[in-house]
Amino acid sequence: MSGHFRSQPPPTESQAFSKRPQFSGFMKPCRFEGEMQNLEVIKGKIPVELDGTFYRVMPDPHLPPRIENDAWFNGDGNIGAFRIKNGRCHFKQRYVRTEKLVREREAGCALMGGYRNKYTDAVAFKIRSTANTNIVYFNGRLLACKEDSPPYAIDPETLETIGLDDFDGQLPSLTFTAHPKLDPTTGEFICFGYEAKGDGTPDVCYFSIAPDGNFQDTVWLVAPVVAMIHDFAVTENWILFPMIPQTCDIDRMKAGGEHWQWNPDIPFYIGVIPRHGAKSSDVKWFRAPNAFPGHTANAYENADGNIVFDLPITPKNVFFWWPDKDGNAPDPESIASDFMRFTFDPRSSDLDLPKPEILLGEDCEFVRIDDRVATRPHSHTFLAIMDPKVGTNWPVMAPVMGGGHPPYNSFGHFDHQTKKVQKYSPGTMHLVQEPIFIPRSQDAPEGDGWLMGLINNYATMSSELHIVDTADFQKPCAIINLPIRLRAGLHGNWVDAQDIALSA
Ligand SMILES: [Fe+2]
Repeated sequence: MSGHFRSQPPPTESQAFSKRPQFSGFMKPCRFEGEMQNLEVIKGKIPVELDGTFYRVMPDPHLPPRIENDAWFNGDGNIGAFRIKNGRCHFKQRYVRTEKLVREREAGCALMGGYRNKYTDAVAFKIRSTANTNIVYFNGRLLACKEDSPPYAIDPETLETIGLDDFDGQLPSLTFTAHPKLDPTTGEFICFGYEAKGDGTPDVCYFSIAPDGNFQDTVWLVAPVVAMIHDFAVTENWILFPMIPQTCDIDRMKAGGEHWQWNPDIPFYIGVIPRHGAKSSDVKWFRAPNAFPGHTANAYENADGNIVFDLPITPKNVFFWWPDKDGNAPDPESIASDFMRFTFDPRSSDLDLPKPEILLGEDCEFVRIDDRVATRPHSHTFLAIMDPKVGTNWPVMAPVMGGGHPPYNSFGHFDHQTKKVQKYSPGTMHLVQEPIFIPRSQDAPEGDGWLMGLINNYATMSSELHIVDTADFQKPCAIINLPIRLRAGLHGNWVDAQDIALSA
């Protein structure tokens, strides 16, 4: 036993997780670190063309949290890596060694308080990141991101934490988005931070990073409200910042309240700046009626120079656990997002956005595209969908589901030319996590390849990795079985072995 284990005092807090839905059933923290070679392939075959790693991250509290009813995505970032080569799959999982995790392991109990509220912590942290939202590869760095902090750099092979990454001292912002975008045409890494000068500040910092890692185009903006900017979008010439109407108030935080509160009285803002050579004063805050914007699929410019911007939107508060000032929140089962398209002129002085078009009127989220066309016109979108026709066995699943996260039971492939969606439904005792797309080859047509994503199997209470061929979308190409249960994750990405070899 090492010294710091011996130095831990006897526990005073409970060492059990609460019985809340977000810590129960399939959502009970996994807390596993380790590796398994040659996972079982229980159906089909893994395509031999696949040579790379699917990285994904889940919030996974390593200890019972200080806040008994803590939000499900305040858990510690636990990174899973599925290494696929020669038709075989090997798995590793390891927590990011954040300041939070390291200090709490030493103490033997949680020290960090509520979601993005430092005033509820037991000790002062330099960095409060849980590194639990996305795992992104750029320029030889695997970055574990959480939008309130700089990213942590992770070794792509061992998943060991290298350390907090400030891009060799170039990072201008205190925060760094969990959804940076890679422009496949220019190789630029496009990023931003919001609350970029600290909690409660309206400052947004946009910056792009050249393929060689050097920063360029840093622009500071001031937002009309201090609200969540979880994801964003990039076109060839414009940057878009959709704001979720969850607003921050420092006095509420100091009183021990939540960082976020739903505000139904403000518009849904989309901030727009030129991508190149912008000044702070160039920003325009376009407005639409109050709504909750989900993850962005993509944005691009059409032949008229107008912006086309696709994303799921709902008028309801998806983060129902952060209600409005009167405590009102929607019934979680009533929340559903349609896949929508805004088309608007970024040069216009009329800041009221035209009504968006409904591309797909089915409850969906976790939209992804073929990343080879990011920032340019796309014709295929992949999504997680809630399809009532699947016949999901809710009565049997309900006691073991846990909760807190939105449920989706199918992968979808939306063809923008035909406006039709194809669906892959793994079964009536299954829910899906975010799908990712892998092209069949570097020069394959857009959308031709495989969809990959984790499936929660509530009959076995374990996880499966499903691979679906976009040319034969109704049935799985391969089902890879895990003998463990991975709770709801947030995001992941495929990194081709060739890309890691090139930057090694
Ligand atoms: Fe996200």
